[in-house]
Amino acid sequence: MKTLFLVASTREAGHLGNTEWLARQAAATLPTDQQQWLHLAQMQLPAFVDLRHTAGQYPMPTGDMKTLLDATLACSNLVLVAPVYWYSFPANLKTYLDHWSAWMRIPGVDFKGAMAKKTLRLITTSGDRAKAQPMIDSAELCAKFLSMTWGGVLWGKGGPPKAVESDAAAIDAAKNFLAG
Ligand SMILES: Cc1cc2nc3c(=O)[nH]c(=O)nc-3n(C[C@H](O)[C@H](O)[C@H](O)COP(=O)(O)O)c2cc1C
Repeated sequence: MKTLFLVASTREAGHLGNTEWLARQAAATLPTDQQQWLHLAQMQLPAFVDLRHTAGQYPMPTGDMKTLLDATLACSNLVLVAPVYWYSFPANLKTYLDHWSAWMRIPGVDFKGAMAKKTLRLITTSGDRAKAQPMIDSAELCAKFLSMTWGGVLWGKGGPPKAVESDAAAIDAAKNFLAG
């Protein structure tokens, strides 16, 4: 049961953000050899190009996008570890999700069929919970579109680094978020 954590914070490398800190509290319940962590801000993500109504299909990706496709296909549980940016996903995570549209159209890859066997969860932080709702709704709708199981959201109160470490309710919720 491999869990892929996709971290979307754009804080500089080596600067642990609130969202990843909260995700690491949740991940403490899982064996380390069952976890894979990828940091989207450290990866080269080419812009998505919509070929649906021209070529109609996509070649196998290369580079970091191939790493992301392979990791996505290999996991049973996908956890989006993403702060709220403008009520929505950070741009790097949005780019990753846009590429799902390409991955559904790679000859020989049954992306939709594979995704239908996985669970999608969201771990997020923001200034307040209400401002996270559009992003939470987006994540749940993406799961539904690909017939994934929606595993729900873990939200914490973020802000400057370490802010979420004062959110006792979020830390408590993290203990059970990935269990079972
Ligand atoms: C570009 C940008 C946009 C943001 N937009 C929102 C927002 O719409 N609502 C909100 O409550 N907080 C917003 N924030 C604050 C972050 O969600 C918050 O600081 C979060 O805890 C950062 O997560 P991190 O420490 O994991 O990077 C924004 C921050 C940035 C940098």
